[in-house]
Formats: sequence, structure tokens, C-alpha cells
Amino acid sequence: MAVEEMEQLVLGLGDQLRWAADVEAPAPIEVPGGLLIVGMGGSGISGDLVSVLASVPVTVHKGYGLPAWVSNRPPAMIALSYSGNTEETLSAVEEARDLGLTPGVVTAGGALGELAVGNGWPHIIVPGGLQPRAALGYMMGSLLRLVEDSVDLKPGDFSAAADLVDQLTGGLGRDLATDLAAGLRDRIPVIYGTNGLTSPVAQRWKTQINENAKWPAWWNTMPELDHNEIVSWTSLSTLTRRHVGIIALRDDSESSRVEARYNLTARLTGSDVAWVGEVWAQGVSRLERILSLCAMGDLVSLELARAGSIDPMAVPEIETLKQLLAEEPL
Ligand code: F6R
Repeated sequence: MAVEEMEQLVLGLGDQLRWAADVEAPAPIEVPGGLLIVGMGGSGISGDLVSVLASVPVTVHKGYGLPAWVSNRPPAMIALSYSGNTEETLSAVEEARDLGLTPGVVTAGGALGELAVGNGWPHIIVPGGLQPRAALGYMMGSLLRLVEDSVDLKPGDFSAAADLVDQLTGGLGRDLATDLAAGLRDRIPVIYGTNGLTSPVAQRWKTQINENAKWPAWWNTMPELDHNEIVSWTSLSTLTRRHVGIIALRDDSESSRVEARYNLTARLTGSDVAWVGEVWAQGVSRLERILSLCAMGDLVSLELARAGSIDPMAVPEIETLKQLLAEEPL
């Protein structure tokens, strides 16, 4: 059954990280100013996750071409595309090449792989044959290797993170994932993360629930959401009281103000939604804490897929859209 197939891939997250820790990588890319990471969907999310581990400013660009500022202040740049054929990412890379930049690349192959090899750009080719979103350990781990001088990582962080996600996906996280999925059953999940820390994980939860469970979900960031979304639950509360579940992704390193905000926000909005839950990050390093929450999100998305008898592997609309776009005039 397809849920088991994706489950096996989620179980492989730790080994993917170990692969990335050991892979022969080019010398770390120098990042004298800022780092620009381009990539979409299940590949681009690695850029978001690494942005909160970086000791340099990181911009993650998800779209065609490059941000306008790049031609004035050329940054170090890395392109992420598992398939290597995503048109937005390729257009960014082609524009970068025309500006004389030398992008680093993480891919399983495709046109991006050919460009990287042909131009001698620093690159890591990861094992192919997976859905991009199931290759998080390969993609994020390889990205970390390409920028290892510019991220907050200590020796041993990779293997500690791999061991922790193995424990969670292998059993320790299962009961919690089942409970969280029960809270979300027949509800639209809204995932909250904290700016500069767990926000990209909230985004990963949202997209994993979308793609694995074929279930709508949204995410937002604390404290920004306290300046807008907090007022949004009253007008449609006859609906939201039945159909919205909120999950906050929490971390011990949150400031006391953020902690107070989560508690007060739950108090002020809790009666207008069906359910409010939270999950705490585990582990010591930031890498472990972020990946422990990613692993829990993957497990929850699979529980939702299982509950609805949904095949988590197939993403037909994404593939059809890409085919239809290829037939459109450029
Ligand atoms: C599919 C998935 C998608 C892709 C996206 C970009 O599993 O997660 O979000 O990641 O369509 O494709 P790639 O990653 O090949 O550049």
C-alpha cells in the first residue's frame, strides 16, 4: 500500500542525512555578503530550513528569474532542484549565468545537473528516483555541506540529528503523530511556527499535508500572526469551530515574549476553532530541533493520508500542470 511506501522514505531521512554528511563535496562556497538560494516546492524548502541555521543573511527566492537587487549586489548563490528540470529554478540559474555568477547546485540530475557539470559549477548530485519532498535529507544535507562555513553547525550535529529522526520515525514519534492527526481529522490544519526558527518547519508541515494527504493546510508565523490573523477567527466561527485545527510548533529556545504570545493567542482564539495542539522540538542543536519537528510533520501527514485512504506518493496535479505548461508558448 502506498502509505507504507512513503513511510519507508520517511524512515530513510536519517540515512539521507548520513549520506550527505559523508558525500565528497566541493570546497564550501564562500559567502562574503549574502547567500541567495533558489528552488521550488520540496526542494526549495531546504533553503528555508537552512536560512534559520545560517550565520550569514540568506534570501530564498521561489520564482522565475532573480530578484532585482542581484545585478547590483551579486550574492553567492545556490540552486536546488531535485529533478533538475523545474522551469523557475532553471530560469534563475540561466539568468545568474548571464550575469557571470557561479551558482552552486544540488540536484539529482536533469538539465540543472548538466548545466552544473558542463560549466564546472560546485555541485552535489544526490541519489535519484524519489519524490523531491521525500529527499529532504539529501537536499538539505547537501546544501549544508555546500555552505558549511556559513552555518551554525558543530561536528556531530549531523549524526545526532540523523539518530534523533531515526528514533522519532522508527517509533518514538508515532503515538504523538497519531494523536495530532486525530486532532486534525476532518479539519483544515493551520500550522504556526516562530520567526527565525520554526517558521520554515511550519511551511514544510503545510506542504507535506498538502502533497501527502491531499489535504488543504495553511501556515503562519509568530509574532506576525498576532498582528492580523488573530482577529480572523470570529466572523466565520460557525465554520472554523468545526473545521479548523491549529498546531503550534514550539521550541525551548523561544523568547519569553513569544511563549507568552502563544499562550495568549490560544486563549483568545481557542474557542473559535475546533482544536488547538502543540508539538515541541527535541534535541540539542538547532539542526536536531528543526529536523525533529520536520520528522513529526512527515509522520502526521502520513497519518492523515492513512485516515483518508489516500496515496501519499502520487501528486498528479503537479505533474499534469508541468506537462500542460510545457505545451504553452514561452
Ligand atoms: C514533489 C514536490 C514538489 C517539487 C516541485 C519542484 O514531491 O515536492 O513540490 O519539489 O514541483 O520540483 P523539483 O524539486 O524537482 O525542483
